[in-house]
Parts: sequence; C-alpha cells; structure tokens
Amino acid sequence: MHASKKIVVTGGAGYIGAHTVVELMNAGYEVVVIDNLVNSDMTLITGIEKITGKKINFHKGDCRDKTFLTNLFRTESIAGVMHFAALKAVGESVQKPLEYHENNISSLITVLQVMREQKVKDFIFSSSCTVYGQPDNIPVDEHAPFKKAESPYGLTKQICEQILEDVYKTGFRIISLRYFNPIGAHPSALIGEMPIGTPNNLVPYITQTAAGWRDKLIVFGNDYNTPDGSCVRDFIHVVDLAEAHVKALAWLQATKTTALYEVFNVGTGNGVSVLQLVNAFIRKTGAKLPFRIGPRRPGDVEKVYANPEKINRMMNWKPRYTPEDALVHAWAWQQKLSR
Ligand code: NAD
Ligand code: UFG
Repeated sequence: MHASKKIVVTGGAGYIGAHTVVELMNAGYEVVVIDNLVNSDMTLITGIEKITGKKINFHKGDCRDKTFLTNLFRTESIAGVMHFAALKAVGESVQKPLEYHENNISSLITVLQVMREQKVKDFIFSSSCTVYGQPDNIPVDEHAPFKKAESPYGLTKQICEQILEDVYKTGFRIISLRYFNPIGAHPSALIGEMPIGTPNNLVPYITQTAAGWRDKLIVFGNDYNTPDGSCVRDFIHVVDLAEAHVKALAWLQATKTTALYEVFNVGTGNGVSVLQLVNAFIRKTGAKLPFRIGPRRPGDVEKVYANPEKINRMMNWKPRYTPEDALVHAWAWQQKLSR
C-alpha cells in the first residue's frame, strides 16, 4: 500500500478531469491539480470546491514545463498521475496539426520524464475510441487494430499509446482508458462541460440550442447504414467515466506487478443514435429543440460502441447512469450557465 494518497491530475480544470477530481476526493484521495487553462478557466475548480467543501490544491502551469513539474513533484509526495491535459478539438487539429502534436505528445513525454526522475510509477492516460477509427467488428474490443487516424488529434492518441507501450517496460505501471462519448454533468449542476465558442460535440450543441444560444441543431446525416440513418455512438455519463478512473487507480495500486500496461474501453456497451439522443432530450426535459437534418460531417464514423467486458470484469466497473440521466444533468448545468 502506498503511504501517500496524493494524486496529480493534469488538465483537472477541464471537463472530464474536474469530474474525476470530485470522485477521487470522494474516495479519500488528496489531489493536486495542474492546468495551464488553455481550454478552461477557474469555474470548474470553484464548482469542485462547492461540491466537496474542500479547497483545491491548484497549480497553474504547463505540462511541457519540466522545471515547473519537477518543483511540484519535489514539494509534494505523489503516489500517481492521471493525465487529462491535451488539446481535444478534432476539427481544430486539422488546422493546427503542429500545435496538437507538440502539446499532446510533449506533455506526455515531459510528465513521464519527471515521473521517472521522481520515482513515481502509476499513470492513467486519457485515450479515446478514436484510435479504432471505424472498426471492422462492433461492439469493438481492445484487440481491434488501430485504423489510419482520421485527424491529427486521433493520431496524437495513437502515438501517445504507442509511447506508453514502449515506456512501461522501464518500470511504469500504466493504464490507458479509451473513452467512448462522454456526456452529461455532475448531478449537482455545479460542474459540467464548458466549450469555448461554438461547440463541436453533440450534447453541448443540443443544450445551447434548447437554451436559445444557437438557432438550430443540425443532425449530420440520416443516410447512414443504421436503424434510423443517423450515426450511432456509445454515450457515457461523465460521472461514470470519472468513477472508472478511481477504480483503475485502486486496481493499479492493489497490484504488485512492477511494470505493466493495460488498455480498457470505457463505454456502456449500448449503441444510441444521434436522433434517439435528440428525441430523448426533448422527451426527458420538455425543452424545445429546433433541429433539421443536414449533410454528413466529414470524418465521422458510421457507428461505434464498446465491448466493455474487460473493465466490467477486471475492475468491477459498470455505469450507474443512463444517457437520459446524462441529458437531464447536462440540461440542468446549461440552465445554470444561462442564468
Ligand atoms: P478539456 O479541454 O475540457 O480539458 C483538458 C484540460 O487540459 C483543459 O483544462 C486545458 O486547459 C488543459 N491543458 C491542455 N494542454 C495543457 C498543457 N500543456 N498543460 C496543462 N494543461 C493543459 O477536455 P476534456 O474533454 O476534459 O478531455 C480530457 C482528456 O480526455 C483529453 O486528453 C481528451 O483528449 C480526452 N478525451 C476526451 C473526450 C471527449 O469527448 N471529451 C473523448 C476521448 C478522450
Ligand atoms: N453531431 C450532429 N450535430 C452536431 C454535433 C454532432 O449531428 O452539431 C453528431 C456527429 O455527426 C456524430 C455524433 O453527433 O455522429 C457525435 O458527435 P460528437 O462530435 O459529439 O462526438 P464524436 O463521436 O464525433 O467525437 C468523439 C470525441 C472525440 C473523439 C471521437 C472518437 O468528441 O474526442 O469521439 O470517435 F475523437
């Protein structure tokens, strides 16, 4: 057992990181948050403090700044790292491939270098189902091969996973969690997703349209080979995803193996179409949601959902919430933002 329960969370001021900080604190961990606020501000940190009633140990800084990280790791006794910090907008990555590669890959390498020097071994990485592209078999399991990445963003996730596969052999204990489509917000409505500018993702676009911030939702395509013609995804509540991180960490800390690398899908196992999600939002919230069918969005995969059997079995993790719950929580959060 580790003497220290202090966990560094990089990117902890962002959407998934912030929800995970809450669950880590609920589970009794001490958390040190690092974020350079390139895609966030202090709103979610304040929200976490309200939910937990505790002050957050927050350090503004960049994961590519080795001196900053080294000083931090020297002054705190760190048991492990959860690495969320990355740039994540698929479309923007096509415009700015160098920025994406530089930020996402240099951040990973610098964090690992400092961990090695400071003898911290336990590491959890935010990966994505994007590494699969359009898989040949659905539900997709962890053995499916990487397909050619659809975007520079997707390529950074594939490269980062390959780096981790090399590096663990030198004495790291590493888990990559391949998230499917995280949606929703904390049930308290004190933290949630805060996209800067026009949202790319479906659920913030839905909630902003229903709130009157946007005119109309465009459903990108209804001519796919799916039951209702719209794309199919595996929508997972962000709090369930946060809990998967806590389970993964506990699992890592309980194992005695000195070097390991494991990859887990984190999804519900259920495919839900875009139109099903849109209709569920209208039904569950009673809100008005103007939408129309538009053309396909380039780069979208037709359907993908997880085989989550590995994480179910090895970590005893199962989602507690439905996509409908996530929509209700996202709507409550949106209404708070709109006030
Ligand atoms: P987010 O943008 O809300 O959070 C990422 C945080 O990292 C932001 O607060 C940003 O300011 C910070 N950051 C970025 N570069 C940094 C750097 N160099 N140093 C310090 N901080 C830095 O994104 P999110 O949705 O919470 O995503 C978290 C992680 O999960 C990312 O790695 C993302 O690629 C991955 N992921 C997200 C999704 C999704 O749909 N949201 C799906 C799969 C994987
Ligand atoms: N969609 C719409 N209208 C919108 C926004 C989205 O119809 O305004 C549709 C998309 O076409 C897609 C579905 O809703 O069919 C989900 O789209 P998102 O952008 O919310 O999510 P993606 O599945 O495209 O992307 C997510 C993550 C990425 C990750 C990718 C891997 O956001 O980080 O999964 O497939 F790379």
